[in-house]
Amino acid sequence: MVRRIPKHLVRKGMFVESVECPDAEFSGRRFLVQSDETIRAILATSAAYALVNPQKSMMDIDAAGGPAAGAQERKRTAETVVQATSALRGSFDAVRRGQLQADTLNPVADEISSRIDASPEIFLEVTRLKTKDEGTYVHSLAVSALMMRLARSLGYADDMVRELGVAGLLHDVGKLMVPNAILNKAGRLEAEERRLVRNHPEVGYRLLKEQGGMSHLVLDICRYHHETLDGSGYPLGLAAGELSQEIRLATVCDVFEALTSARPYKQPWTARDALSWMFSRGQLFDKKLVIRLGGIFA
Ligand SMILES: [Fe+2]
Repeated sequence: MVRRIPKHLVRKGMFVESVECPDAEFSGRRFLVQSDETIRAILATSAAYALVNPQKSMMDIDAAGGPAAGAQERKRTAETVVQATSALRGSFDAVRRGQLQADTLNPVADEISSRIDASPEIFLEVTRLKTKDEGTYVHSLAVSALMMRLARSLGYADDMVRELGVAGLLHDVGKLMVPNAILNKAGRLEAEERRLVRNHPEVGYRLLKEQGGMSHLVLDICRYHHETLDGSGYPLGLAAGELSQEIRLATVCDVFEALTSARPYKQPWTARDALSWMFSRGQLFDKKLVIRLGGIFA
């Protein structure tokens, strides 16, 4: 009898009767999964489940599913987050010295991408365990992951997905220059503290520019990720027409991640609450992208 399994549990050797999504790529196709590329393609669809035929599969389907598989997924994701946090810390230090190479973070982005594709819920669950000290790093990892997942669902090509991932990793690098005591302050910020915080996109942009070799996309996302469609954002108060889809995508993922995380001054929101709050603020955030992001957690 055909079995319905979450798509992140599809493995090589399984015979797929159908991928439950409207994407043309898989409609009506029945096939044996033979490559990682096919697995990635299935993960990139909007489907939540796939129908697998145990009789035609070349492996024991039960061995891939169940709670043990979930625990293993969580373990692998936790390992990735630890390694990527340390890599990112090293890259931020390199930025401080003016020595970051543009392509250093490519493999980090690729690894994060495959982990969030495997399970967005588990990825966010793991990154929500961040401590104060690693706050900016883990936030950046989570934003990077969300950006890549959203970009894939919008049909961006692999190179662009990766570049967006790197942009996500570096978007808050300007916070290097804001003391942790201010970033983690539970009470109201004084005017000068607020000015320092609001200056981080510009500071980050200048730092990245000094490294040389950073793409326009990475620089723009760092500089403009706090701009909003109605021109009320910072640092420049740009209007909607000046904000590309890539910048809007970064903003939506950044805000979603911040809302769904615990901070010293607030409790985490549920994904559903965060999405509906953002959706009701269409003057600030691109509604189409908010809906797409919601599709990832449906
Ligand atoms: Fe930021």
